[in-house]
Amino acid sequence: MAAADAPVKMAWGYGGSAMQMEGGWNQGGKGPSVFDVAYMDPAAHPTHGTPFRAADHYNRVKEDLGYLGQLGATAYRFSVSWPRILPNCTGTPNPEGIKFYSDMIDEIRRQGAEPFLTMYHWDLPQSCQDQFNGWQSNQIIDAFANYANVLFDSFGDRVDYWLTLNEPRANCDFCMKQPQFAPFTSTSEAVFYQCMHNSFLAHGTVVKNARARKDSATWKISLPSITDWHDPDPGATATSYYASTLLQVEWYFDPCFRGDYGPNIKKLFPLPTFTAAEQAMMKDSCDFIAVNMYNSNTNGMPALPPGENAPFTAQEVDDATARTYWPHPRPEGVRALPKYLYDRFNKDVVIAELGYHVPRSQETTYAQSIQDDLRVEYWRLNAPNLISLIKEDKVPVIAMLAWSLIDNYEFNSYEFRWGHIAVDYFDPVTGKVNTDKGSLKRTIKSSAFYMRDFFGNNTVSP
Ligand code: NOJ
Repeated sequence: MAAADAPVKMAWGYGGSAMQMEGGWNQGGKGPSVFDVAYMDPAAHPTHGTPFRAADHYNRVKEDLGYLGQLGATAYRFSVSWPRILPNCTGTPNPEGIKFYSDMIDEIRRQGAEPFLTMYHWDLPQSCQDQFNGWQSNQIIDAFANYANVLFDSFGDRVDYWLTLNEPRANCDFCMKQPQFAPFTSTSEAVFYQCMHNSFLAHGTVVKNARARKDSATWKISLPSITDWHDPDPGATATSYYASTLLQVEWYFDPCFRGDYGPNIKKLFPLPTFTAAEQAMMKDSCDFIAVNMYNSNTNGMPALPPGENAPFTAQEVDDATARTYWPHPRPEGVRALPKYLYDRFNKDVVIAELGYHVPRSQETTYAQSIQDDLRVEYWRLNAPNLISLIKEDKVPVIAMLAWSLIDNYEFNSYEFRWGHIAVDYFDPVTGKVNTDKGSLKRTIKSSAFYMRDFFGNNTVSP
């Protein structure tokens, strides 16, 4: 076989997160998350969907993981629910919670996939919120480090790839600055910056602790951030970080690799400062680049409006065409952004999320959601660029995790179906989406078969 035809060495598969999939919100000794508590009173925080049942993955985990092997996936990203492990934020771990994820990890491996464990994907225990105000307070740093130690103790013998905190910017922005998601606490810009700062310090502390352990030799740890690709990159002249790849990278990635926020983002916003000791701890605290990629606002496409994720109205949910402007799935970015990050930081790359939700107007029935031709088209345009990124640009992409394995809960709605496996959320009587009434039956979508064939022919596992 000529070198150019040789398979690419990259693990590929799917991702998901606990709150978006599991449901079982009070099963197995789990404590409530801030989302559970917020949505208990529908009048306090009106929502288009609650997390209580979600896709019922907690009770169907065996079936769901079985799709990994069936679809040829060689990697799988999942998150652990902190309130399932430590219902009281810290303290004694819940053995049922530990067993649930322990079995899950064994099953992922049995399916032939490498587990990528996310420690935190926004489902903060309500107890942490009650005790010290959650991410607003620097007390979160020790609480999170304590939780991470429980995960290392429990799963470190079978997990090598760890993702500490999913998208601190989105977590802090959506849950605090805007705030559209739980715990709906504050609208202050300063709290938003502090929340991100605490997130970075929590990550740095976890990595420092991990490296001091005897059992950590094979572990690789990073922090995934969502980043947009903009070309040309307005960099220092931009007034909104949404408009610049450079500004996003200086804010979300520089602390993890360089130990501090970059100069341009510091000029733009009054960010908290890292002490010299914190900078030393943060520097090189990411073993690899982990990036979630959705937007590529190239060639005159309009920039992502700052209010993109602002609470959407009932009318908008009924308007099937609303919100289809996100993501902007221009395939150029899939190649350009990882290359940009690699050129800057010179570390292996994990594409921790990449995907597309089909406009709702195309998926008003369960049958339509299974025949996801637009998602197939998305991958048909994007997937070859990933191969070029590795083969031609020589960027060491060690894994690509498509978002997501199954249709899941988008933090306040089930209307945005990101899955490669359909979940029937449709009320059989009204035909409308209703997670309490749908059968939750799973069916593999066309896109998952496309992925199986495309990556099966082009890759080998790590
Ligand atoms: C990024 C988040 O990490 C994930 O939870 C979410 O479902 C996707 N974006 C799609 O919006």
